[in-house]
Parts: sequence; structure tokens; C-alpha cells
Amino acid sequence: MAGRDVEGVRIETVPGDITLQHVDAIVNAANSSLLGGGGVDGAVHRAGGPEILAACRRLRETRYPRGLPAGDAVATTAGRLPARHVIHAVGPVWSRHDDRTDRLSSAYRRSLEVAGELRAASVAFPAISAGVYGWPIDDAARVAVGTTILTAPRIESIRLVRFVLFSRTALEAFDRALDGVGGSARAGERTRI
Ligand code: APR
Repeated sequence: MAGRDVEGVRIETVPGDITLQHVDAIVNAANSSLLGGGGVDGAVHRAGGPEILAACRRLRETRYPRGLPAGDAVATTAGRLPARHVIHAVGPVWSRHDDRTDRLSSAYRRSLEVAGELRAASVAFPAISAGVYGWPIDDAARVAVGTTILTAPRIESIRLVRFVLFSRTALEAFDRALDGVGGSARAGERTRI
């Protein structure tokens, strides 16, 4: 686990299950249908209960009749989860031939912007696209941490961004990405937990 303060925002990594996080908003690694799936998506709907799916269905009937595009994010209730909101973010599927980094970065940036619209102070992310969608974990971590360090300090309400990793491999990749950050982040306090 690692942590760093970047311009007043604490950015940290922890091992575990994102559905158990006591934060204002957890980010779901959703798909464009917003109607559930496996991995994080399955865990969020299982633990959060039917309210979340009902809210997602309403979003499909109103704002997103064709589904939520990759790189975008939208919030719903968190149902029975300890968090107050679920921010459903759609990451891109990894492609060897097509560089989709901008859409992965956008999934993090839009999630943080939506968290700001909710006045959320604390946000937990999984490793978006690094499971079923096949993104290599080291690059997924680099994009996640890099985007967060650039975006989170600009969102007034955010004080904590927590990456919740489901495997040791993912945790180590995110720790390396966080440790590897140079620039202004080094000015902040650096603690290894
Ligand atoms: N808490 C935290 N991280 C988790 C959890 C959990 N409960 N469950 C899985 N993960 C991890 C995975 O190990 C992986 O590192 O989250 C990362 C993202 O994996 P996926 O959930 O497969 O998400 P993604 O790769 O973005 O694929 C999205 O998978 O589940 C479907 O409906 C979803 O179609 C969408 C696709």
C-alpha cells in the first residue's frame, strides 16, 4: 500500500473489495449497457441491491438510450452499500492495434468530475479496464494515477482518492505508479503505509 498528498488531495492504494469501502462514492467498472455484468459490476449490483439496477434502467430510458459511451461516467444511488453514490464508469476494451489510452484516462477524469458535481470528498476506484477488458495492469495503473494526479486537485470537493485493488499484482502495479510520480507530487508528504 502507498499514499501521497498532491496539492491537498490524499491519493492512496489499498487491497480489498471496493463494495466495502466507506467513502462518499465508489466507481463501478461498468459496461455501456449499464445493466450489470461480472467483476466489479457484478459485485456492486450484488452488494448494493436492486435499487442500483433500477436507477441504471432509468438512465437508459432517459439520458442514455444508446448506452453510456466508453470514457464517460454517470452516478446513481449506492443502494445498500456503505458508500453514498456509485459512479458507473465505462472503460475501453484493450486493443493491441488501437491506442485507447485517451478513453481510459477519460473514464477516470469524468468519474472525478461527476464526484465533484456530487460534492463528494472521498472517491474509491477499481483498476478500470484491467480485468475482463484486458488492459495490461502496469499501463492501467500509470493512466489511472497520472489522470488522477492531474484532475483531482482541480475538483474543489475532493480530499481523498483511493485505488482499491483486488489482487497483489494490481496493488503492486498501482504502488509503482504512485511511487513513480515526480513533479509537484514530490512536494507533498510521502508515506509508505
Ligand atoms: N473490488 C475491487 N476490484 C475488483 C473487484 C472488487 N469487488 N472485483 C474485481 N475487481 C478488479 C479486477 O480484478 C480488475 O483488476 O477490478 C478490475 C477491473 O476488472 P473488471 O471488473 O473485469 O472490469 P473491466 O476490466 O473494466 O471490464 C468491465 O466487465 O464485469 C464486466 O460488466 C462489466 O462488461 C464490463 C466489463
